[in-house]
Amino acid sequence: MLVLTPPMGWNSWNTFGENINEKVVMDSADTLVSTGLAAAGYNYIVIDDCWSLRERGEDGRIVPDPVKFPHGMKYVADYVHSKGLKFGMYSCAGMLTCAGYPASFDHEFIDAATFAEWGVDYLKYDYCFHPSTVPGPVLYKRMAVALANCGRDIVFSACSWGSDETKKWIKQTGANLWRTTGDINDSWRSIKELSLIAGDAITYGSINCYPDMDMLVTGMKGVGNVGFAGCTDAEYRLHYSLWALLGSPLMIGCDIRQMDDFTRETLLNLEVIAINQDPDYNQAYDASAYGVTFQDAEKNEHPIYVRQLSNGDLAIGFFNLSDQPTSRWNSYLALDRIGLPESTGKTLEMKELWTGETFKVTNGIFGETIAPHSCRLFRAKVVNA
Ligand code: GAL
Repeated sequence: MLVLTPPMGWNSWNTFGENINEKVVMDSADTLVSTGLAAAGYNYIVIDDCWSLRERGEDGRIVPDPVKFPHGMKYVADYVHSKGLKFGMYSCAGMLTCAGYPASFDHEFIDAATFAEWGVDYLKYDYCFHPSTVPGPVLYKRMAVALANCGRDIVFSACSWGSDETKKWIKQTGANLWRTTGDINDSWRSIKELSLIAGDAITYGSINCYPDMDMLVTGMKGVGNVGFAGCTDAEYRLHYSLWALLGSPLMIGCDIRQMDDFTRETLLNLEVIAINQDPDYNQAYDASAYGVTFQDAEKNEHPIYVRQLSNGDLAIGFFNLSDQPTSRWNSYLALDRIGLPESTGKTLEMKELWTGETFKVTNGIFGETIAPHSCRLFRAKVVNA
C-alpha cells in the first residue's frame, strides 16, 4: 500500500511495556482525540509487544491475553476506529517476539489473515529470535507478501534496528518504514547517540519507505518502561525537532493521559508537523561546514539540517549536541551552501518555530549561539536581499 507521509501516532512500548491492556489503549485513543493530537495528524494507536498468550491456540492462531484484552482485539480495533483512528499491532519475524511471546515465523499468512480479520491497519514487525537459515530480507518479504494478500491495507513497519544493512534492502520488501537503529530510551545519552547516526540512514528514505528513528520519548520524564534518566525540556524539544525535520515517523511514546503543557505544546506545534509531513518528502542534508567538508558526519555535534519544502520554503534546524554553547564560528550557515550565493540577489526571511521570532538574513551568512543540548528550528522563505 502507498503511504504518502511518515506515519504519526502513539505506541504503547516506551511507557507501558508489558503492562498494556484494553483500558490503557482505549483511554489513549480517547486522549488522542480530546487533546487535538488526532486532528494534528497523530492517528495510529499501536499496541506493541506482550499482548498475547504465551502459546498459540489449537487453530494455530495467536490468542490475545484474556486478562489484558478481555473482549478480544476486534473489540479494541472497532473502538479505535469509532474514534476516527487507525489500529496498529506488533509481531516479529522470528519464532518469538523480543519479550518471548509467539511470533510469526512460518505463520506469516495465518497471522496476516488474523490481523486483517481484527481490523488491523498497521503492523510493526520486529527481528528477535529469527532463524539463521533464512536471511533478513527474505523474512521481511515473507510477511510483506502475506500482508499484501490478506485482503486489507496494512502499513508494514519493519523493526530490524538497522541491522544487516536493512537500509539497502528494505525497499525491496514493500515495507513502508524501517527502524534505522537500536532502541531509544528516555535519556539524553540515547537521544544524542541516535541523533549522531541519523544522517546516514535518512539518505535511503523516500515517500512510502520512511526511516524510523524510533518512538518519541518526549514527555516521558523518566516514567515507564524505557523511562531511564529522563530529559530536560530543551532536550525533548531537540529530539522532537530533529525527528520531525529528518522525516522520521512521529510515534508518541509518553503517557498522553498525563501530558504537561510543555509536552502538549511540543507535540502540537503544527508548523513543525507541517515540515515533517511536507508532501514532497525531500531529504534533509547537513549544511554545516562540518557536514559539507568532512566525511565522518557521525562526529558532528553541531549539524545544521536543511530540507527543501514543497512551496519553495526551506526548513533549517541548528542543533547543538555538545555540552558547550555553540559559537558563531562553529554553528553558522553560509547561504551559498544551500543554493543561494550572492549572485542570486536572494536571501532568507526566517521564522523560528518554537519562539515565533522572525528576522532577515543579511550578508549571506548567519550564525546562531545555541545552548548545550538545544536547537533552533526555522522555516525560511526565499526573498529579495
Ligand atoms: C524491540 C523493539 C522495540 C520494542 C521491543 C518489544 O526489539 O526495537 O521497539 O518493540 O522490541 O519487545
